[in-house]
Amino acid sequence: MTLFNSSRRRFLQTGVASAGLVSANLLFGAELRQDDSTPQTPKDIAGFDETQTNIDEARAWEPFTDRKIRVGIAGFGLCQFGAAFSFENHPNVEVVAVTDLIPERCAGLAKACRCEKTYPSLEEMLKDDSIEAVFLATDAASHAEHTLASLKAGKHVACAVPAVLGSLEDADRLFEAVKETGLTYMMFETSAYRDDAYATRQLYKAGVFGKMVYSEGEYNHYYGTPLPSFREWRTGLPPLFYPTHATGYYTCVTGHSFTEVSALGNRGIVPQYQAKNNRYQNPFGTEVALFRTSEGGMARMTVSRDTPGAGSESGRNRGQKGVYTDAFYTEIPEVEELAKTVDILKPGLPPGVDAGGHGGSHGYLTTEFIDALLRERKPLVDIATALNTTVCGIVAHQSALRDGETLKIPQYKF
Ligand SMILES: NC(=O)c1ccc[n+]([C@@H]2O[C@H](COP(=O)([O-])OP(=O)(O)OC[C@H]3O[C@@H](n4cnc5c(N)ncnc54)[C@H](O)[C@@H]3O)[C@@H](O)[C@H]2O)c1
Repeated sequence: MTLFNSSRRRFLQTGVASAGLVSANLLFGAELRQDDSTPQTPKDIAGFDETQTNIDEARAWEPFTDRKIRVGIAGFGLCQFGAAFSFENHPNVEVVAVTDLIPERCAGLAKACRCEKTYPSLEEMLKDDSIEAVFLATDAASHAEHTLASLKAGKHVACAVPAVLGSLEDADRLFEAVKETGLTYMMFETSAYRDDAYATRQLYKAGVFGKMVYSEGEYNHYYGTPLPSFREWRTGLPPLFYPTHATGYYTCVTGHSFTEVSALGNRGIVPQYQAKNNRYQNPFGTEVALFRTSEGGMARMTVSRDTPGAGSESGRNRGQKGVYTDAFYTEIPEVEELAKTVDILKPGLPPGVDAGGHGGSHGYLTTEFIDALLRERKPLVDIATALNTTVCGIVAHQSALRDGETLKIPQYKF
């Protein structure tokens, strides 16, 4: 077997940094206050501490225009996500205004983004004609409604995951709205820019894998007690309603989708994941889905909330010609030669933009969104990929409720 990371140092570097394991996130829930008016610093939340990433300093970011996109930012909740993506530092961005319904959060977001103009709600901010694009870091339950309102107001949208929360109808409405308005939509799936996912995508595009035969991903994050969230959207949430950190390891890497699913759920002992204790009537704390892919391959995707221990946002792929687990491996000499020609390290970021948390993905998501707007092209996680990454989990949960019945998954193509 050819082990790429022994022959090429950069393969080794990428592999090691991309294991995706989240260390020492034990008892994080207990450290966070339940008070909904005061956000906690997100440093103790799994994923935010993972800022290590490998960047090819030889491929510096090159400015190509002085134009600044005028951005409005909504949401400074538990994760303080509105200020976590360096919008305020990007040379092609002017943060025009920010908002959060809770005044102290709104003030905190304004301070963090060095922005003077605030609005009491997203709905008010959308009336500001000077804003071209919004970043929605609001609660997941509001993503569909907030995206639709933003598109209707003529704004391009970047939105935190998931694209929709548990509703196939919302997914269709979103898809139609993006198509009709012709505006740009991007979902900020952090797994898409983890080092290993980035490397796998570059290799896949170069044809190094052939078709993906088997892909897998996990989002393991223990919620022994409910993590605070706006109007408690997180409490007892069906695990696969939030599948994107796992499913993104296939969809955001290949651009393909999942076509059908059979899934199972675990009826566990954590109270919030008992049907009588949550608004979703969800009885599962862990769900495991087996998918057929649009390439004809297979995938296993897991989200686990009721298994205390090391968390992870991770994944890996096995293709017809090679595999990427902790690095790229193949036994075919010409594939090895081809792989050596592929640049698998992430390029440099604009000055002032940090790679940030979740495997050094944050700054790349912002840079991709802004670059797509400036060049009037589709962003990496466009509306089709966003929905193909999210909706598969909604159908998987339905399958788990029916004890593994195989169900077809709606397909989104642009
Ligand atoms: N790795 C990742 O990609 C990752 C990690 C963490 C969180 N997230 C996502 O980030 C988002 C934010 O997470 P959170 O934990 O901070 O959420 P949260 O529920 O704690 O906070 C949401 C915030 O949105 C504000 N809000 C709601 N409606 C609004 C409106 N109409 N106008 C203005 N503000 C409004 C609320 O006041 C609240 O402060 C979620 O969608 C979550 O799924 C993604």
